[in-house]
Amino acid sequence: MTTLLVLNGPNLNMLGLRQPDVYGRETLADVQALCEQAASRQDLALEFHQTNHEGQMIDWIHQARGRVAGIVINPGAWTHTSLAIHDALIAAEVPVIEVHISNVHRREAFRHHSYVSLVAKAVLAGFGTHGYVLAIDHFARELRAQQGGDA
Ligand code: DQA
Repeated sequence: MTTLLVLNGPNLNMLGLRQPDVYGRETLADVQALCEQAASRQDLALEFHQTNHEGQMIDWIHQARGRVAGIVINPGAWTHTSLAIHDALIAAEVPVIEVHISNVHRREAFRHHSYVSLVAKAVLAGFGTHGYVLAIDHFARELRAQQGGDA
């Protein structure tokens, strides 16, 4: 079965508690359930992780190489700081969709630059947790098109 990998960076374990005015009331467990439902509707396997440790995130990205069909990543604050995650995503050679729950472009200027966007095929920001579902559905559509089915 084709697998998608959903990766979440620092502080996303605090979803539901952290700045609910910005990120909403859903928890990370709720996001995981949404992603699993979306993947199962599309007949895709899904792996879902969150970490507050950059090295762990880089290891998961490396391990995706040759193994998963796509990475959906919400890198949290590493979006704006991490050249190492940027380089790891290039090394993985797996298509990437970057997701942000909030619309980073209407927030502080330091959230406007993303090291990840430079290596992502698409970016979703401001769709709330539905952004993850949109990313999974997009990968499913692309995979069907590659397999010669109806997009
Ligand atoms: C975020 C936006 C980032 O700027 C922030 O550091 C996060 C969450 C989002 O999902 O909107 O931790 O990636």
